[in-house]
Amino acid sequence: MTTCTVAANQTNPHLPFGDQRGAPFYGKDILSVNQFCRSDLEYIFGVAHEMREMVARVGTFDLLKGKIMASLFYEPSTRTSSSFLAAMQRLGGSIIPINEVQYSSVAKGESLPDTIRTLECYADVIVLRHPEVGASELAAQYARKPVINAGDGVGEHPTQALLDLFTIMEELQRVDGLTVTLLGDLRYGRTVHSLARLLSLYDVRLNYVSPHALRMPGEILSELQDKGILQSEHELLAPVLPETDVLYITRVQKERFSDMDEYQTVKDAYVINPETMTAAKDRMIVMHPLPRLGEIDMAVDDDPRAAYFRQMEYGLYVRMALLAMVLGKA
Ligand code: CP
Repeated sequence: MTTCTVAANQTNPHLPFGDQRGAPFYGKDILSVNQFCRSDLEYIFGVAHEMREMVARVGTFDLLKGKIMASLFYEPSTRTSSSFLAAMQRLGGSIIPINEVQYSSVAKGESLPDTIRTLECYADVIVLRHPEVGASELAAQYARKPVINAGDGVGEHPTQALLDLFTIMEELQRVDGLTVTLLGDLRYGRTVHSLARLLSLYDVRLNYVSPHALRMPGEILSELQDKGILQSEHELLAPVLPETDVLYITRVQKERFSDMDEYQTVKDAYVINPETMTAAKDRMIVMHPLPRLGEIDMAVDDDPRAAYFRQMEYGLYVRMALLAMVLGKA
C-alpha cells in the first residue's frame, strides 16, 4: 500500500522546525517502490538534483561525516554496490563493505537476522542485496537502523527504479504523457517490476515487449490495470518503437533460470543496433540497468539517445539523496 512520507511529515505539527525527526524519510527503510507517492518522488529528485550540483561544484562534502554505512551484498553487483560506496564517501561518511559474503560469517551459516543485528552495532544504515524475495523486509524487521533494499531476488530493486525515473526526468524533463517500452526479460527482471510500479504514479502508456516465456508477471499487469494504466504486450519491438519515448532494455537473467535449454531459446531474442534506432524518434532515450550482454550493440553507444551510461551516473546522486534522507540530513 502506498504511504506518502513527505505529506505525512508536512502535516506533523508536533516537531519543531529544524528537528531531524521532522525530515521526511529520517530513520525509514527503503524497501519497495510501493512506499512512495508522487510528492515523495518530487522530494527525492529535488535532493538528488542538489547532490548532482554539489558533486559538480565541490566533489565531496561532509554532510554525513561521522556516519557509517554497511553494504552487504549476497549477490554480484558492480553499479549498485560501488555507487552506494561512492555516495557515502562523497558525503564524507565511512563504509563497511561486505561484497563477498563467502568471506564473512555467512559462510559459517550465520542467519540474515543475526548478520543484520551484528552490522547495526557498527553502522548507521545497512544496504542489502540478497537472492531471496522479501529478504530486505525480513532484515528491516530485525534492524533498528534503516535498511535499504539493493535488490531482492526477482522481487524489487527500488533504488534502481528511483534512479531510472530520475534519469527520465533529467533527460526528458517530464514523465506524464510519455510512452515507455520495457523490453527483454520482464519475468525475472526486478528492475522492470519496480519501474513499472513507479511509473504507474504518472500518466504514462506502457508497452511490454518480450518472448512469451518472459512476459511481465500477471500480478503487476493487474495491479497497474486497476490503476488505469494503458498497457499492451508484444513479441516484436517494431510496431511500438516509433511511438516510444523511453526504450528500457533488460538483460535476460540467466541466473534466474532453472532450465538452461529455456534460457538458450530466449537469450538472444532482441538486439538493438544502429539500424533499429533509425525507426525511433529523434527525441527519445534508450535505457538499460546494465550489465548488458548482447542486447545492445556497442555501435549504439555513441548515439546521443543512448542514456544508459548517464543513467549509471544519475544513480550516484539518487543514492546520495537517499542516504542523506534516511540519516536525517536532507
Ligand atoms: N543495475 C544494477 O543493479 O547493476 P549491478 O548488478 O551491477 O548492481
